[in-house]
Amino acid sequence: MYSDKDKTKVEILAQKNAEAELGGGERRVESQHKKGKLTARERVELLMDNGTFEEIGKFVMHRCKDFGLDKEYYLGDGVVTGYGTINGRPVYVFSQDFTVFGGSLSETHAEKICKIMDLAMKNGVPVIGLNDSGGARIQEGVVSLGGYADIFYKNTLASGVIPQISGIMGPCAGGAVYSPAITDFIMMVENTSYMFVTGPNVVKTVTNEEVTSEELGGASTHSSKSGVSHFSCANEVEAINNIKRLLSYVPQNCEDKAPIYPYEQQGDEKKVALNDIIPDNPNQPYDIKEVIDHTVDSDSFFEVHKTYAENIVVGFARLGGRSIGVVANQPAVLAGVLDNAASEKAARFVRFCDSFNVPLLVFEDVPGFLPGTDQEWNGIIKNGAKLLYAFCEATVPRVTVITRKAYGGAYDVMNSKHIGADMNYAWPTAEIAVMGAKGASEIIFRKEIKEASDPEAKLQEKVDEYTEKFANPYRAAHRGFVDEVILPEDTRRKLMRAFTILENKVDELPKKKHGNIPL
Ligand code: HXC
Repeated sequence: MYSDKDKTKVEILAQKNAEAELGGGERRVESQHKKGKLTARERVELLMDNGTFEEIGKFVMHRCKDFGLDKEYYLGDGVVTGYGTINGRPVYVFSQDFTVFGGSLSETHAEKICKIMDLAMKNGVPVIGLNDSGGARIQEGVVSLGGYADIFYKNTLASGVIPQISGIMGPCAGGAVYSPAITDFIMMVENTSYMFVTGPNVVKTVTNEEVTSEELGGASTHSSKSGVSHFSCANEVEAINNIKRLLSYVPQNCEDKAPIYPYEQQGDEKKVALNDIIPDNPNQPYDIKEVIDHTVDSDSFFEVHKTYAENIVVGFARLGGRSIGVVANQPAVLAGVLDNAASEKAARFVRFCDSFNVPLLVFEDVPGFLPGTDQEWNGIIKNGAKLLYAFCEATVPRVTVITRKAYGGAYDVMNSKHIGADMNYAWPTAEIAVMGAKGASEIIFRKEIKEASDPEAKLQEKVDEYTEKFANPYRAAHRGFVDEVILPEDTRRKLMRAFTILENKVDELPKKKHGNIPL
């Protein structure tokens, strides 16, 4: 079929392909494996549906000729870029190759990433970035810094247009951290990945602190202390599987809706187990995740930020096969109080869901905002306002179920009717009030209690009075702030119907350039 001349050309192509696929060479691939890490190409293979990956820019080479780089070239320049499908849906991917100059970012490496981001934006397709890099290509200097800035700019323009997911599979240090930080979700791998603005050596010099890379910026640190990472994964395979699962809940872009999955029909959808979940004593905790699990489609709850600010639970789930975002106070941790971390965590999640047309379901059992100097000095006013703002401007279908406490400002913030929620339900155990009955009685009946012959008995009398008047859902229901008081067992059925009727909701914010969320 081919002439001899053509055969040589075909051989040259095969040779070049093989060279590109070898990255930085066998020795470095081996060293990567010894560290317990996969190579850039192995990761892409795992991520994409079999045989669907198409590479772009395989033969790109760096341009720098300084510091010996005129003698050392690798086809692809340290990043594998292209597109393929995950569960049949198109995605773009870039995967940094640590075997080539430590995955460091050169001018051309950055251009390859920007190219696929442009394509993804124009075509409304998610982008996944697998990061494993020593940072800016030191030999290239400012050109490499420019490359980073080009990526940050594109990340920002793409924000809210297409979902962007970052897997941190190795080092991610210095300014390089800001690209993943702008993306929607970060997955980190325990023990083999880290993120920090300055590493342990600089930390030691500047602050005299002794800290390891893992302590400073490892997966568990960022998933539990800083909240930078949304998922901490035991290994790379788990991280890649999590990326795939996450994608299944989100649409391709901001004009699209998430895919609908088949689900198990459950008779009349009654969930009797929910009737016994709320303890008799209002101060006793229970696990809101049980409420979530009994409400949404079986095994569909996918928690985000599982080990960070555990007093609020956020995550994706499906109800009747359709994606929803769940935000729920967690009475089992700090009584479900709203603090700085919980407010920021939930605000970011609400904004993601609203950007990408994922309806919101809120389970509310909140005693209020956490008091104290630590909270005030760290900005509970502005952080609580973030959550309030996020709910207020969300135009997706929004439904709230008050299971127990809905106290004070937190009642307003947690997707109340007043700030635009579409359907608000309460269980008979709901207590919707300015504060708990005891605290309220101590304030408004202080004089009467003090002057009573038996202050203890007087206090109890007033607590009972206040409880009867306010510690129930009916005052709010009389006003229409609660649409319906429902039995816990009917929650799933009611929610399925509510989200179905709200499916084509159209709501628009006033025309503006953009709002000014209290950052
Ligand atoms: C060029 C680099 C490189 C870099 C690593 N390499 N980082 N080449 N530019 N930034 C090369 C090494 O020379 C080596 O080449 C190979 O990659 C593997 O590196 P090792 O050091 O052998 O690997 P390891 O021991 O695993 O250590 C990984 C590392 C370390 C911790 C990432 O390489 C490191 O500290 N690199 C420098 C990190 C850094 O300071 N980067 C700049 C940050 S500032 P050979 O040929 O031996 O295989 C920054 C600013 C961004 O990024 C600003 C954006 C606004």
